[in-house]
Amino acid sequence: MASTPASAPTTPDPSPAELLAARPMLRMDPSAGLCIEDVPLARLADAVGSPAWVYSASTLRRRARALTGALEGAALRAKVHFAVKANPNLAVLALLAAEGLGADIVSEGELRQARAAGIPASHIVFSGVGKTERELRLAIAEDISQVNLESAEEAEMLSALAVSLGRTMRVALRVNPDVDAKTHAKITTGTSENKFGVDFPLAPALYARIAALPGLEPVGLAVHIGSQITQGVGAYTAAYRRLGELVVALRGQGLPVPRVDCGGGLGISYRDEAPASPEALAGAIQSGLGNLGLELMLEPGRWICGPAGILLARVVIQKQGTARRFVVIDAAMNDLLRPAMYDSWHGILPVSPHSFAAPLAPADVVGPVCESSDTFAQGRALPDLPAGELVAILDAGAYGASMSSTYNARPLAAEVLVQGGEWSVIRARQGYEALLAGSRIPDWVRA
Ligand code: LLP
Repeated sequence: MASTPASAPTTPDPSPAELLAARPMLRMDPSAGLCIEDVPLARLADAVGSPAWVYSASTLRRRARALTGALEGAALRAKVHFAVKANPNLAVLALLAAEGLGADIVSEGELRQARAAGIPASHIVFSGVGKTERELRLAIAEDISQVNLESAEEAEMLSALAVSLGRTMRVALRVNPDVDAKTHAKITTGTSENKFGVDFPLAPALYARIAALPGLEPVGLAVHIGSQITQGVGAYTAAYRRLGELVVALRGQGLPVPRVDCGGGLGISYRDEAPASPEALAGAIQSGLGNLGLELMLEPGRWICGPAGILLARVVIQKQGTARRFVVIDAAMNDLLRPAMYDSWHGILPVSPHSFAAPLAPADVVGPVCESSDTFAQGRALPDLPAGELVAILDAGAYGASMSSTYNARPLAAEVLVQGGEWSVIRARQGYEALLAGSRIPDWVRA
């Protein structure tokens, strides 16, 4: 989403050349066209069809390393748990696990995905405001690293479950620090108006209560103030300072507080946002929590995988209206929901070298779904894009495939992972059999 949500951007759109220059995994080959790493996207589209999600393995690795490197550089003892919701593809999770990342999960499905990708239970943290009994029971059975509790009610429920299973579960208390991360209203989470976490004033008594509950071992605090945070690290610094004070206060009461989970939310540049660097984030953590001898955790999603993926689509038809030119592509809001849901801006690049060099004129890029919000871009400067041309929708590696649906009975798109000149399908395109599977027509409907 734009850094100033709910208002149209006031700066000119970056040009295709600027978009390309800012994305090192992409290059325009004069004959093969747009390549991701060393693989021409046109070749991928021929082989796997479109639409398709394409991820760069080197970019995922580079970004995971940049983040862990920044934490190490600030001498922070920190473990990174990748927010699985951003990109739950098993190959992506396995690649990040090989980089030493754990998983931040929010459901049984994500727990199963993380485990299936080979992430040990001891590297899994369970977040979320509505974990079910069944999910908590599984978390206990698997003996995951930590459950982040979001309420007094959840603490009581988990305690009872752990006791009934004869186990003890490590828990952190997610605190709502009441700071405004100044991001899109739909993904801000750290103010007292949001459903997330426990209100700051209630935290000390609840932490003491948790320490007294059987079956629970309090291991610290957790915070997550929002997503796509692009306005510097001020909100992080404020949140971590408040948490640091709480750590000191709780320890003053004789309560153990060995860990703090610092959440995720670091933004990326979709258009021309200038989010803080991982080094600046590490500095904010250091200033608020650095001198407390804490084991630290981070739960980033988007920053690691967002820029590592594109959505590859083919033009179905180019339609000239009286007021507008519509480029109708074979990807839709069921694939990439973000523009429809948050008015988010994604760069769009033509794939063929000929189109890339052609003159630009405004166009609306839309999908085939029967909703006006099925629009990827409005008035975007793009070349002539007749039927059959390919486009790459940029920065689609986070909250892209994971938020897809089959709306309009459109099968889930294929996912591909590229490394150098090699590529593999890492999730096959959903077949129509799978789309219909599970549906039943009871006899009495037809009778
Ligand atoms: N930890 C918790 C508890 C979270 O709720 C989230 C994201 C994260 C970590 C990871 O945040 P990240 O580092 O990716 O910003 N669908 C929206 C984003 C929703 C984020 C939800 N929570 C989008 O497409 O922009």
